[in-house]
Amino acid sequence: MDRIRLIGGNELNGEIPISGAKNAALPLMIASLLTDEPLVLQNVPRLADVKQLERILENHGVDIAVHGRRRGEEEGVGQRMTFLAADIVDTTAPYELVSKMRASFWVIGPLLARCHEARVSLPGGCAIGTRPVDLFLYGLKELGAEIDIDDGYVVAKAPKGGLVGAHIRFPKVSVGATHTLLMAASLARGTTVLENAAQEPEITNVAECLVAMGAKISGIGTRTLTIEGVERLHGATVDVIPDRIETGTFAMAAAMTGGNVLLKGARPEHLQSALDILAMTGVDLTVEPRGLRVHRNGNGIQSVDVETDPFPGFPTDLQAQFMALMTMSSGTSHIRETIFENRYMHVAELVRFGADITVDGQMATVRGKPQLKGAQVMATDLRASVSLVIAGLAAKGETIVNRIYHLDRGFERLEDKLSRCGAEIERVAG
Ligand code: UD1
Repeated sequence: MDRIRLIGGNELNGEIPISGAKNAALPLMIASLLTDEPLVLQNVPRLADVKQLERILENHGVDIAVHGRRRGEEEGVGQRMTFLAADIVDTTAPYELVSKMRASFWVIGPLLARCHEARVSLPGGCAIGTRPVDLFLYGLKELGAEIDIDDGYVVAKAPKGGLVGAHIRFPKVSVGATHTLLMAASLARGTTVLENAAQEPEITNVAECLVAMGAKISGIGTRTLTIEGVERLHGATVDVIPDRIETGTFAMAAAMTGGNVLLKGARPEHLQSALDILAMTGVDLTVEPRGLRVHRNGNGIQSVDVETDPFPGFPTDLQAQFMALMTMSSGTSHIRETIFENRYMHVAELVRFGADITVDGQMATVRGKPQLKGAQVMATDLRASVSLVIAGLAAKGETIVNRIYHLDRGFERLEDKLSRCGAEIERVAG
């Protein structure tokens, strides 16, 4: 297995282009199952999770094309891809494919809406908690689906004539359940109201894609989405939004190493709460026409307390990276993880750098130190892995991050982007 080797201590200076958001690209790809016309997605990141979802969609009968570079296009821009689900040949999403990535479970929504049946393996994914699917099943049942669990599979059948609109109030905010119900309700008969829906920017990206495909959705960007079902959806061309988690990750990396970095194409409004917190730690953030500039001038890192929350709160997907930053703060920071019950696996690894962190239930207490020391560490999930990389960038001496396949799931050209800004980082083949 590949490893990353880095020598810490260099400042980050330069420009980092922000890639398309993984968490938007995946549901947008899944939305292609809703129509027999082509869905063209622009700015799709080159990631292992995207490849994995391609396999799943191909198994359902989706034709996928990756288009070449266009005249005038900058090097390294995201992929332009066409997804054509002219004929869905199989409504089963098998264990071998779904178990590798939790988001693939979301195909259940469009399959059920369009084909009136779906058989989807219960998901796997990151080891950050149990991550049940009860909210999905509750919502789909409200739309009239009959659901059985059989041999590790969710077997869902729509009533005769298809799903029927309903008033659904989620007892808990779920990104995946909101995506799935939004897609399912777009082709249901009648009106669906989704209350306590997730309002992450990726949900808005998908809702706007569905509208471009002919769906009737109001309340986009709010906690309540109203969907008037239509009989069919058509093709569209849609841009994947820039990745706010990648943006926040590089911003925290620069905060930790010092330097001056322009995060090209970043959309600051998509991570305002994280940027507000970063500003409190002592980082200068400037919104420029080409993106977000992050600048730390050597005044040290102030400690700040943080609690993760659904959007517009501080994202759980930046919690590990923020913890890495706090390990070098001048005080004590309390970090509370409220979304996932087991998302502190990076703690034991950060401690290997000499960090002082204790965990009590949902709360981590980080006592900052002036300097970390490079170490051999192991990546355990996607966001945890990158927190180890940014800790290594700021630590003294050599760091080896083992088992980096998680990074390839969610970060495009990570070493390349960082080394162009002065980091000493390389991939070592396993
Ligand atoms: C998505 C993101 C992930 C992010 C998470 C929270 C993608 C591909 N992944 O994951 O990066 O960390 O949102 O922002 O977009 N839950 C239930 N029952 C359910 C569904 C969820 O109890 O049926 C719980 C989960 O266990 C978790 C919480 O709800 O505690 C939030 O999970 P959810 O928003 O569904 O996360 P994902 O959509 O899986």
